[in-house]
Amino acid sequence: MTNSKLLKIILASLFLIKLVYSQDTAEIDRLEKLINTGTKAAEDYILPTDARQYQATDNNVQEYGTFDFVIVGGGSSGSVLARRLSDIGDWNILVIEAGEFSDNGFIQFPRFFAHHKFSDYNWGYKTVPQTTASLAAVNRTANIYLGKGVGGTSLIQQVIYSRGHPENYNNWAKITSDPSWSYKNVLKYFKKSEKFNWTNPQAPVDMNYHSTKGEFHVQHRTPTYYLNDVFLNANKELGYDITDYNGASTSGASILQLNTRNGAREDTGTAFVKPVLNSFNLKVLTKSFVTKIEIDKLTKIAKSVIFTRNGKTYRAIVKKEVILAAGAIGSPKILMLSGIGPKDHLENLGIDVIKDLDVGSELKDHASAGGLVFTTNVTRPVDTFRQWLEDYVKGQGDLTGVSRAQALGFYPRNSINTKGVPIISVNTDIALRSKMVQKYLDFTTETIDAYWGTNNNAVSFVVKLLDPKSCGTLRLKSKNPFEYPLINPKFLSDPENSDIEELYKGIQLIFKLSQTVPYRSIDLKYLGEPVPACKQLEFKSKDYWYCFLRQVTISGYDPSGTCPMGSSPCEGGVVDSKLRVFGIKGVRVGDASVFPSPIAGNSVTASIMVGEKLADSLLAEYFFY
Ligand SMILES: Cc1cc2nc3c(=O)[nH]c(=O)nc-3n(C[C@H](O)[C@H](O)[C@H](O)COP(=O)(O)OP(=O)(O)OC[C@H]3O[C@@H](n4cnc5c(N)ncnc54)[C@H](O)[C@@H]3O)c2cc1C
Ligand SMILES: *[C@@H]1O[C@H](CO)[C@@H](O)[C@H](O)[C@H]1NC(C)=O
Ligand SMILES: *[C@@H]1O[C@H](CO)[C@@H](O)[C@H](O)[C@H]1NC(C)=O
Ligand SMILES: *[C@@H]1O[C@H](CO)[C@@H](O)[C@H](O)[C@H]1NC(C)=O
Repeated sequence: MTNSKLLKIILASLFLIKLVYSQDTAEIDRLEKLINTGTKAAEDYILPTDARQYQATDNNVQEYGTFDFVIVGGGSSGSVLARRLSDIGDWNILVIEAGEFSDNGFIQFPRFFAHHKFSDYNWGYKTVPQTTASLAAVNRTANIYLGKGVGGTSLIQQVIYSRGHPENYNNWAKITSDPSWSYKNVLKYFKKSEKFNWTNPQAPVDMNYHSTKGEFHVQHRTPTYYLNDVFLNANKELGYDITDYNGASTSGASILQLNTRNGAREDTGTAFVKPVLNSFNLKVLTKSFVTKIEIDKLTKIAKSVIFTRNGKTYRAIVKKEVILAAGAIGSPKILMLSGIGPKDHLENLGIDVIKDLDVGSELKDHASAGGLVFTTNVTRPVDTFRQWLEDYVKGQGDLTGVSRAQALGFYPRNSINTKGVPIISVNTDIALRSKMVQKYLDFTTETIDAYWGTNNNAVSFVVKLLDPKSCGTLRLKSKNPFEYPLINPKFLSDPENSDIEELYKGIQLIFKLSQTVPYRSIDLKYLGEPVPACKQLEFKSKDYWYCFLRQVTISGYDPSGTCPMGSSPCEGGVVDSKLRVFGIKGVRVGDASVFPSPIAGNSVTASIMVGEKLADSLLAEYFFY
């Protein structure tokens, strides 16, 4: 090689190194800007209190066309349905979604999960004033977060990938008298969508229950954090297993599996819909708001879907079926506006009754007790924000999970029976008090001050009730579709007080964990002060914790059961086991509203599974019968 050739090669390499370096720096600068503008926008964001932004100025209905299937809502399950149904070239599919696609901007950082709720990706619902829980919420009305956009609530969820216990699905099979819902039979649908990437050697993974071939990315957050070990070891000391909570044995302590792709939030719109947007037979309409399904009163056959878009009103005609995938609040709302729901309620509002069904009468949600905050004597390493960004471009570090701590336990009722169905979960977080956390929880300042204090080196534990006995309702405020519905979760309202007792046991478990050797060795101490409303009670007594729980228990963010599957409408079922609305032809519901009972996990993957299974049964019904 001549000298000049060598020189050229050296110069070229130097140039390349500089190029790579400055590309990285440019990317980090870009991300930093996204975060700065994103956090500021969230702090100033005011959530809407109704859907009037979708109101049409022109009420003349224009024809939009004819479709084999119209999917209402392109959310967690709607996105999967769109993907699978559009694979069938003979069918043409319309998806109508109120929000927009993810811009994969600020929304991509799981760390800013609280900020994400204060954006156009959230509907901004609130509960009606509560009497049995959430009493510390301002005006006793608590936030109910639900996603808006292609991807739905997967756009704003906390990215925990957890399916629940096999017995939850075996129970669904019993309730519906349809064995196709047993875990053995739905496992293939869970696996169909999953793309698992095993990264944390600390966490056992049972690959019989996972797949690497789907579209929806699942991974662990890296690097691991010392609090994960502390939590796992504390659980071991109390006799619990370390387990893969999506494997054969759910109960015990685990490291979180996350819906992230290289550390960025994975939403179903990006994973399932974006890759097939060019399909000739798929049309995805965003910023379009469905107000009604038109159903023939005599034949009870669904004919068309009415929606508004850019100030105009449209009708899409349906050849085969309407599939409601508008979520646990949206789907029952649209059914009721279309004349399907409790007869008295609809008549009171002046809505023509087409079918009397118990829509919205069994709203169930995991109840979550807002966080017990402890201090430790460990000084948290202080990273610069720049360091976080440098890690992030490698798919690692603080921005890639909602917290550095990534551990969670599932606990069965009564005993340390690691095969039992979990009744509560406890997860550990590092707790950073901020303006945004307060806006997110929306508790009175006095309550937050008391249970958080000035604690700034904190570990928090959140206990969640997975099998609530309390039952809430979803009702319409009026027949105006642009009004938000009345959401009344009624947490901790079961007459036997079994829900509050289970959460109380969860608090006892947290204190038991705090006294294990692993936690004692970091000097874990509860530093909460009595919350204002419970000051008259002996601090930390059972009566005190009951009072505390009624103050701070809020939604665990898994509402379901508003259009439950059942074997018959007499027993409160709204859809049959094939997800067809009882007594109506051509309308199915395929989202979290059909869960006949809550699952002991989080609901994104279960909603996706429902979409997968529905797509599969539509295929079978239309092509093989
Ligand atoms: C704050 C928060 C954190 C969560 N964390 C987790 C977690 O860590 N792990 C987990 O598994 N689950 C989590 N969940 C729960 C999970 O996100 C939901 O249960 C799940 O996404 C529900 O899916 P879905 O398909 O039923 O509805 P959605 O995903 O909500 O989809 C419904 C879609 O329908 C659209 N829509 C509604 N009405 C209309 C209308 N009239 N016209 C047009 N479109 C309409 C909506 O805009 C939305 O896109 C969390 C939820 C929240 C709110
Ligand atoms: C609480 O109620 C008052 C009076 O109705 C209202 O002005 C205020 O906006 C409410 N606050 C919240 C957070 O809902
Ligand atoms: C799995 O994750 C690692 C680490 O984040 C990443 O480097 C790798 O590309 C991923 N593999 C796949 C197949 O996605
Ligand atoms: C924290 O407290 C524990 C228990 O008192 C003690 O053993 C440990 O050395 C302390 N650690 C630090 C860093 O002070």
